[in-house]
Amino acid sequence: MTYFSQRTCWPEAEPDRSAECPFDLTETNPTRVGLVEPERIAALIQGVVAYDPSSFGAPSARLAVSDYYRRRGHALDAERVVLSASTSEAYSWLFKLLADPGDVLMVPEPSYPLFDCLAKLEGVRLAPYALRKEDHFRLDVTELFRRVADEPAVRGIIVVAPNNPTGTVLHEEDAALLEQGARERGLPLIVDEVFADYLDVPAAMRSRLRSSFASSNTALTFVMSGLSKVACCPGAKLAWTIVNGPAPWRTVALERLSVVADTFLSVGSAVQAALPQLLAQSDAVHVELNARLAVNRASLNRACEQTQGAVRVLPSHGGWSAILELPRIVTEAEWQARFSAEGVKVSSGALFDIPGGRSLVLSLIVEPTLFREAMQRMVAAILPLLT
Ligand SMILES: Cc1ncc(COP(=O)(O)O)c(C=O)c1O
Repeated sequence: MTYFSQRTCWPEAEPDRSAECPFDLTETNPTRVGLVEPERIAALIQGVVAYDPSSFGAPSARLAVSDYYRRRGHALDAERVVLSASTSEAYSWLFKLLADPGDVLMVPEPSYPLFDCLAKLEGVRLAPYALRKEDHFRLDVTELFRRVADEPAVRGIIVVAPNNPTGTVLHEEDAALLEQGARERGLPLIVDEVFADYLDVPAAMRSRLRSSFASSNTALTFVMSGLSKVACCPGAKLAWTIVNGPAPWRTVALERLSVVADTFLSVGSAVQAALPQLLAQSDAVHVELNARLAVNRASLNRACEQTQGAVRVLPSHGGWSAILELPRIVTEAEWQARFSAEGVKVSSGALFDIPGGRSLVLSLIVEPTLFREAMQRMVAAILPLLT
């Protein structure tokens, strides 16, 4: 006998043996890494504002989101903006909108580890499509649609760009093929762009990449982002989904989604009232954090050079993480344990389903002095094993 649902029957969590490490490169909470601008911006959220519920959020807040995209070159009608408390909540709403229990959503692999939980809680299944390390984690559209053809109950394709943790963004020609294929098959795209303000690509390459799907209407497309990354304010609890696509489907999607959103009405009034200012000022957050990401990437590259090519950073287009590939001398878990013994905590590649058993994932948002010291400690742990 059990009181509990199958969907909350989780595998037992592994004990965390490296909890005491002073150099924590698994830290991805932007409120714990000493960034100045997000703190100033968060202070704009004040008081409890009069409650005037509206299923997709306050018109002024939705307009602020469309302005944010307009400043990035995407003309966007505020009527297509749906506010939620978080991107995670937006995923759960979209899974309810698109899939019945047992249906399937395609997810990239490697990617964001929370997908398993989100899907299980909604009673849907996930089918992975591989982003191959040998191809720099580039999307193979032909392979993706081959996988789709193998799955009879597919209800949507999830794309994360920049992906977490690979940092990859779709090449323009792959994005166009994906949209066309999705449209022909009647499949919606769910595009998670929470890291879109943290691209790290030379200007000449930008036009060859699809930096956002915010104005793409070929297929039914849901584009998601939110304050947890855009303003580094996860505690603000506000995210958004843009509903794009051919008119009849887009209209029905909005109608149906309005009932889901109206059932929860989960976004606080105070953050909605502050949203125009929060977004207008978030550029300062991007400047501060992008500068820090660049400094930490440089420290990481210097550390890899010290290993004479034994350790390398995998190429990326941006995001908040870096993937390190280590020699096979010891296992991934053993590398983690050795770094932990030096006071440095890192995530395993396995956590993100990176194949090969020789990758570690490092958060690049941590304070640069701490990051540099962590690199020195890692190099000191690696060098004796190379001789
Ligand atoms: C790819 C991706 N999407 C969404 C989220 C979560 O965003 P939110 O705080 O809005 O739920 C994360 C968090 O790290 C993420 O990596």
